Amino acid sequence: MTTRRPLIAGNWKMNGLKASLGEISAIAAEAAASPAVDVALFVPATLIAPAAAAAPDFLIGGQDVHENESGAHTGCVSAAMLVEAGAKGVIVGHSERRTDQHETSDTVAAKASRAKAAGLSVILCVGESLAVRDAGNAEEVVSAQLIESLPQEAASDWLSIAYEPIWAIGTGRVATVEAIDAMHRALRAALRGVIGEDADKLRILYGGSVNGENAAEIFAVADVDGGLVGGASLTAGKFVPIIKAARSA
Ligand code: PGA
Repeated sequence: MTTRRPLIAGNWKMNGLKASLGEISAIAAEAAASPAVDVALFVPATLIAPAAAAAPDFLIGGQDVHENESGAHTGCVSAAMLVEAGAKGVIVGHSERRTDQHETSDTVAAKASRAKAAGLSVILCVGESLAVRDAGNAEEVVSAQLIESLPQEAASDWLSIAYEPIWAIGTGRVATVEAIDAMHRALRAALRGVIGEDADKLRILYGGSVNGENAAEIFAVADVDGGLVGGASLTAGKFVPIIKAARSA
């Protein structure tokens, strides 16, 4: 880890009912006991308000936001709606949305801008497919995807990046430490070209099958500033060891 303050973010995806609020409270309690680490949970839209009420000092976020302020977009959630529900942050550009909802990098940049305007912090996700990884030019492809997805007002005080190789998400297969190191360096260099020295303050998280066993090794990589965690964030029992790994990295 680095002098950048680590961020450990849980992405609950399409999981979680009110019965899970106890897990959120337990995770928030561990976050309160870890002042050197930022911890956040990105829960389903329906759970934002009850989660924010159960853990008022904790960062609860949404998993997507519409790029428009309001209007005829059936089923979508606006930035103002997230804020009103109690969200303080949002994820944009997750590969599952880029694939399932065909979101382009332009749309992702617009979503990030809209979220920032509403006062939300943002985690912007990028990552390569297995075909790109096997072709040997993953750094180049993901750097280009990052630049295309970056909103004009990108800055370290509200934005973090999550590098998530698609083939490592939910598969139990983690990128090697060498591959993570090379990618995070490449992404920071690409960021420097756009936002200058502020790139050195911007957090770049790793995501993809992070768990209590592999977290310490991943967080020890110089340009890794925390993690975006799916499956292992669903219970305090699995998530707390990851927070502890960040604390001692
Ligand atoms: P995973 O998901 O930890 O279950 O691989 C990570 C993510 O998609 O954010």
